[in-house]
Order: sequence, then C-alpha cells, then structure tokens
Amino acid sequence: MNKVKIATFAVIGLAGLALVAALPVGVLVVAAAFGAYRYSRRAAAALFPLALGVGLALAFWCAADLVSTLKHLGGTKPAVPLDVAGWLTMDVLDPANRAARVGLVLGALGGAVLALARGRGGELHDERHVHGLRVADSAAKGTRRWAGDKDISHVVEFGPPRMGDKFGGGIVLGRLKGRIVRAQPSLKGKPPLPGHVMVAAGTGAGKTYSFVVPNAIAAACAGESIVLTDPKGELTCLLAPWLKAQGYDVYVFNLQYPEWGDRWNPVLECRDDEEVTAFATAIVHNAAKDSSGYFVMKEIQLLKALVYLLRADFPPEQAHLRSVLSLLAWPVEALDERFQEAYRTGRLPREGLEEWRGAVSSNIDNAVSGLTAKLGVVRAEPVAKLLAGVPGQMIDLSALGRKKAALFCVLPVNSGHLKPVLATFYYFFFRRLYGLAAERRGRLPNPTRFLLDEFANIGQVPGFVEVISTARSMGIQIQFILQGLKQLQSNYGGNDAETIISNCPVRLFLGGDDRTTTTYFSQQLGEAAVYSVSESRDVTMPWDRLDVTKRRETVVRRALMEPEELAGMDSMSAVCLMRWCLPLYLTKLGWEELPQAKEIKELAASTLADVAPKKDFKLELPEMPEIEEAPKPDRDRKRGGEKKGSRTDTADTGGDEDRDWLDDLFGPAQ
Ligand SMILES: Nc1ncnc2c1ncn2[C@@H]1O[C@H](COP(=O)(O)OP(=O)(O)OP(=O)(O)O)[C@@H](O)[C@H]1O
Ligand SMILES: [Mg+2]
Repeated sequence: MNKVKIATFAVIGLAGLALVAALPVGVLVVAAAFGAYRYSRRAAAALFPLALGVGLALAFWCAADLVSTLKHLGGTKPAVPLDVAGWLTMDVLDPANRAARVGLVLGALGGAVLALARGRGGELHDERHVHGLRVADSAAKGTRRWAGDKDISHVVEFGPPRMGDKFGGGIVLGRLKGRIVRAQPSLKGKPPLPGHVMVAAGTGAGKTYSFVVPNAIAAACAGESIVLTDPKGELTCLLAPWLKAQGYDVYVFNLQYPEWGDRWNPVLECRDDEEVTAFATAIVHNAAKDSSGYFVMKEIQLLKALVYLLRADFPPEQAHLRSVLSLLAWPVEALDERFQEAYRTGRLPREGLEEWRGAVSSNIDNAVSGLTAKLGVVRAEPVAKLLAGVPGQMIDLSALGRKKAALFCVLPVNSGHLKPVLATFYYFFFRRLYGLAAERRGRLPNPTRFLLDEFANIGQVPGFVEVISTARSMGIQIQFILQGLKQLQSNYGGNDAETIISNCPVRLFLGGDDRTTTTYFSQQLGEAAVYSVSESRDVTMPWDRLDVTKRRETVVRRALMEPEELAGMDSMSAVCLMRWCLPLYLTKLGWEELPQAKEIKELAASTLADVAPKKDFKLELPEMPEIEEAPKPDRDRKRGGEKKGSRTDTADTGGDEDRDWLDDLFGPAQ
C-alpha cells in the first residue's frame, strides 16, 4: 500500500472515530440502515430501520410527555421541546427525549432485523438457498451449492475494473450480491489457470452488452492488447476512440465495409509450406459443409500450387486471393507452361511444382470448378481489395503481441460465407503471436486477449484445439461466445469441441433455450442437498380431515438448475462455472454501469469512417493469356484420358505424356 493510501485511510478512520464520539446513536442508526440495504440489495430496505426508529422515538417521546402531563395534573407542566439532535448523541437529556432516544435505537435495530429477515426469505439463489430451499449439510445427498463471496475470494476481485492496479483487469462476470465480480484465474489461481472463457447465450441475452464490452474495458485497464470481433460494427465506433485515448494503436479489419479499414493479404502472409497448407486447407474446409474426401484434397492441392505460383512468379500487387480466381480461368496448358518456366528459372520452389503436378495429374476440371465455387467470396471487389495488401501496407499481426494495440474485426450481419477468410485470418493471428512468444522466451511482451463474439461465424480455425490448450503460458486469453454448444460441435466435431470447452476454466451462461446448452450447464452445476418440507394428512375417513396436517422436513437432492429452469431463468440472471470453485448465480452487469462508461460515450464515434478513414486503391490482376481453341482430343489426352465431367474416387496415375513431362524436369524415373 502506498503512502497516499495509508494517509487517506488514516484520515477516514479518524473522521469515523470523531463521528462515533460525537453522534454514537446517529452512527448506529445509519449503520443499521446500511446493513439492511447491503443484505437485501434494495434501497427500500434501508428505510425500514430509519422509519421504525423515528416512529418509535416519536411514540416514546409522546408516551413520556403524557406521563409527565399526568404527573403534573393540576400543576404547571414543564415545557419539554423535541431535541432531535440530542437523540443522536449520548448527552444528558430530559426524561421524554431520553425515552425518544431509546425508541430510536430500538426501532433502528428492530427495523434492520425485519429487513434482514425479509431479505433472507426472498432469496432464491445464494450460498444458503437453492430455489429458496435451505441448503443442508449432507454430503450423501449432494455437495454443490451456489458460491457466496467468501467461496470465490481466492480467485476473484470485487469492484469495477480499474487502471494502475495489478488486479484491476480480469474477466468481468457480473454482480454477486450487488458487487461486481472479476475472475482472475491466471493471477490468483493456484496453480494459475488460463483466462479462456466460453460464453453461451441466445440472441439478445446480453452477450455484447454484458460480456464483450465490460471485458474489453477490463482488458484495457490491465493494458492487454485486444482482438475483438464486432458482428455489427457498433463496437468499433463505441470503443476504438476510447482505446486510442488510453494509448492503444487501433486496427480495423473491416469485412462489412472493406474500404474503411486496414488490409491484410493471406497469400503474402504465408512463410513456409506448413502455412501454405494450413491456409489452403482453411479456405477449402470452411467454404462448404463437405470438408473431406478425394475431391476436396484435389482442391486444396490446386490452391496450394496456385499460391506458390502467385508468390513466386507474379508481382506482389498481383499476389492475392482474387488472382487465384483469375488463374483458375486460364487454360490448363497455359498454367502448365507458367509453372514449368517458373520452376526452370528457379523462381518457383520445388514444393510448388510438386503440388501442381499432383493437382493436374487427374480430375483437374473438378478441382478447378470446385475451387472456383469455393473462392466465390473473394469475387466481390471490396473483399478482394481487403485481402490484397502488399507488405508495408497490411496489418502486422504480431504487432498486438509487442505493444498495446486493439484490432476490431468487423463482420457484416450474415457473415457465414466469410468463414474461409476469417478462419485463415485467426489461424495466422495465433501463429504470429506464437512465433513472437517463441522469440521472447515463451511469453508475449504484451498479453493479448481475444474477445470472439459470434465465434461460430469464424469457422474452423486450423490448429485451434492446440492453441487453446497451450496459449496460457504465452499470455494469450481466448474468450469466445456461442449461441449454443452445437455450433462448436458442427465446426470442430464432437471430440475437438469437448477439448475446447474443457480448456475454458470459466464457462458462462447468460440465458437461452438451446437444449444441448442448458442440459450441459445443468449437469455441470450438479446437485445440492436441501431441506424439503412435505405435508401429509390421513384422509381415509371423512372425520380424518379435521386432523392437523403433518409437516415433515427431510433432506433431498435438488439440481441447482434443471435444463428447463435455465431456459426460463430471469433475464437479468446468469450462471457461471469456474474451475476449483462452486458455481455462481450472478446478475448481469451492463457496461453502462461501469465508471468508464461516461468517458466511452463521450468519445464514441458516430460512423466507422471516423475511426478508419477510407482507403481505396486499384486491384491488380494477372493478365489473361491468349486463349486458343485447343484441339479437343489432344486436351482430353493431356488430362490422363479423363472423361469430361466424370468424378471418380480413384486417383488417376496420369498419362504417358505427363510422365514424359516429369522426366524432362526431374530426369527419368529410376
Ligand atoms: N445487464 C444488462 N442491463 C441492462 N440492459 C441489458 C443488459 N444486458 C443486455 N441488456 C439490454 O439488452 C440489449 C441486447 O443486448 P446485447 O446486444 O448485448 O445482446 P446480444 O446477446 O449481444 O444480442 P445479439 O445476439 O443480437 O448480438 C442491450 O441493448 C441492452 O439494452
Ligand atoms: Mg451481440
């Protein structure tokens, strides 16, 4: 604690002592009112002790006055004015005001007790209640219950996010008994846990308002770099100016209005064969539901070959994803020639030629048509331009790991068709951060938090399972948001989806009807032992009805939340599972309740153009070769005798001519 804090506490302490010495009864009454408010979390509860205190004080004063009047019947009764200020002190008073002071103390304490009793009875979910039933201490029936603040204090901080404090950031989860809860799994967890979070919520449940924005603010308070998907562009306008004011560099990868944003080129981003393979795989796998089989492999092979060719044999301005579509429209013979020449002159690496030979050896027509369809997303000029940056003009993905920066990935409303682009983008993002961490002894110079809203729309990011299993030690936190768990299963398959979820120590449910999700959370919340009262009455004979009903209290098992209870949960409630902790029943916290909200609103931009100025440029494409009408029989022969339009699952061995061609390049086969 620094000296300023110690001095502040000392001054507050002395002032408190002085107040207690001067107005002991007043302090007692205020404490009773505050206690009632804190316990029941209702402002009205504070009025209970105050109103009852004042009421009893007046009643006692009147009673004492009456006694005095009766005592002095026939004589002169001394005047006794009300001394309200005197009630709050321990000064010597006349008997009527003394009685009033006693009434004030009794009323305040009685009011506090009444408010607490009401508050308790009204609580449905807290550390002592499950659906209003008292929790019993019976391990045989169940050991789960909701966490109270003492149960989680070893891994959370309370209060709004704040700057300049080691524990000022963390994961904002909501409110527990009115106090803001920020989980600190990596700083306070023993051993440290990753800061990965899985949030599940139906539409309109508050994913953006109650999770993404509060956590972006918390990340900024902790000085972390932030990567944020912004499904409607609204967060960029809201947060980017404030983050800039906090010293952040801001990048916008804008797939909604690509002209307003920074460019990035996956073709030039690839550094080695592994990255070219992952890139081509991500594009093809995410472009259609059918992501396996022979023809898909052919498409990946063809895309890899064309990426190699573009990187090696075309100027950087033409080496982008849209150019792949142009090359796919070239006659195969012309492409053949280009590959051969690029290889002979040493520009094309051997891997590029090998991929091309593999792709062209059979079924090339199918691969061309399949790949052309799958790359349809880059035919739109704005998207094509966005993915056509040249070095020096495109987003440096590792920059976020080096310094305080924020990247907003703006998505249009229906962004399902952009999965190939997004999956590639995030693949490279993680890879660059991993590369940087490897250079810096396994940890990023600046920790980075990913806040991935609408995570399902990002598609299947290659290697994501490994990333989420290993990112903690590098200082990477991944916090993703789903509408339902099925979305994760359909992108990654059941086993990988399970691994991804199990690597998230914090799982938050904000409401929604999805059956798989509610069943999952219900099971994970578990069962508590609670007292249950059952009533019984013998009604065999008519006169038995006059008997008193028997009430029997027993301890029973009770699910903290059944799936249908989760689906019908209060719209402002949330439940959270945190590793090594009891589950939390929370109230959602809207970002506007945070102290930073005022400044954020003041600085917010009205349009994206204010955050990311328009950057237009000409898109360069490879020139089309002269197209000659090739003699049909010869062309068929060149493709290994394949029948036009046929799709076969057996790989063709290629024609003699192909083999001659290979011999020319690599020498005769041994
Ligand atoms: N904690 C809260 N306090 C007050 N209002 C809230 C809270 N959470 C959400 N809301 C209200 O609900 C609205 C919808 O919230 P939000 O946009 O975050 O939902 P969403 O789950 O992100 O929806 P979508 O699926 O459309 O993206 C907000 O605009 C806000 O008015
Ligand atoms: Mg939203």
